[in-house]
Amino acid sequence: MTRHFLRDDDLTPAEQAEVLDLAAAMKKDRFGYRPFEGPQTVAVLFDKPSARTRVSFHTGIGELGGLPLIVDNVSVLMGRGEPPADLARVLDRQVAAIVWRTTGQELIDEMAAHSRVPVVNALTDEFHPCQILADLQTVQERLGRTAGITFTYVGDGANNMAHSYLLGGATAGMHVRIAAPAGYQPDAVILDQAAAIAAKTGGSVVALTDPVAAAQGAHVIATDTWVSMGQDGKEERVTALMPYQVNSELLEHAAPDAVVLHCLPAYRGYEITAEVLDGPRSVVWDQAENRLHAQKALLHWLVSRT
Ligand code: CP
Ligand code: NVA
Repeated sequence: MTRHFLRDDDLTPAEQAEVLDLAAAMKKDRFGYRPFEGPQTVAVLFDKPSARTRVSFHTGIGELGGLPLIVDNVSVLMGRGEPPADLARVLDRQVAAIVWRTTGQELIDEMAAHSRVPVVNALTDEFHPCQILADLQTVQERLGRTAGITFTYVGDGANNMAHSYLLGGATAGMHVRIAAPAGYQPDAVILDQAAAIAAKTGGSVVALTDPVAAAQGAHVIATDTWVSMGQDGKEERVTALMPYQVNSELLEHAAPDAVVLHCLPAYRGYEITAEVLDGPRSVVWDQAENRLHAQKALLHWLVSRT
């Protein structure tokens, strides 16, 4: 059966742990794994801008012995009204895996439903699961564990990062707290799904409106841009979300050794202050590097099971 990674809960808790263990091993032996020797090609398609995802997949596929086919403007491939299902059936006869950053989750679901090779979500409007693998790897490195830690995300609780933290964090057995104002709260269905996972892993999930209550004793404080790609209404969003800025005052409520995550790009002075982003608690550059190791492990794991 072809394994895809379209949302965080496509990996069971045991499988997620396996991928993260592999990521740690591959980070130690960076050029020692070459499953795409041939070279086999991996298609990496972008419908939205990207720095970290583009660089880490390009670099990682090369390090795995493969050939990255990076397509930055998917209209080059799909600009004539062809459905994702047809592109899947063209690509899967030639490439080892398909990685896609796009808009609606239904597009990547359709691609995966028709692909005999693994399809990987490199960010949709709904989820950003590759980022969460890198974040979990970073937390594991810094805190020595993921299960049982309190992970607080403050900001836009309705975006792809918040939803992926809920599912991926619950899968890892973390206590995930989302702090967001009314109108920016997580999707209730995803919150329920995450709660069901957490009930099995010993974690928990909760959506709050008070950022200080959410930060209390947290081991990790995470945030993300207040205006995701494709969204408008910046002024209104900034007004609603300003009380949810990650700054030194908020950090005072977290655990003394708490670390700060941001998937980047960051907007200093909005969702996070420069003092915090560029300060000693911030682990964002390790986090960005871990995209490389986590995605190499994911690709290796997926193709070896397909
Ligand atoms: N964090 C992240 O996905 O960065 P890019 O949008 O630059 O790929
Ligand atoms: N929520 C952000 C994440 C960027 C990596 C966005 O979708 O733009």
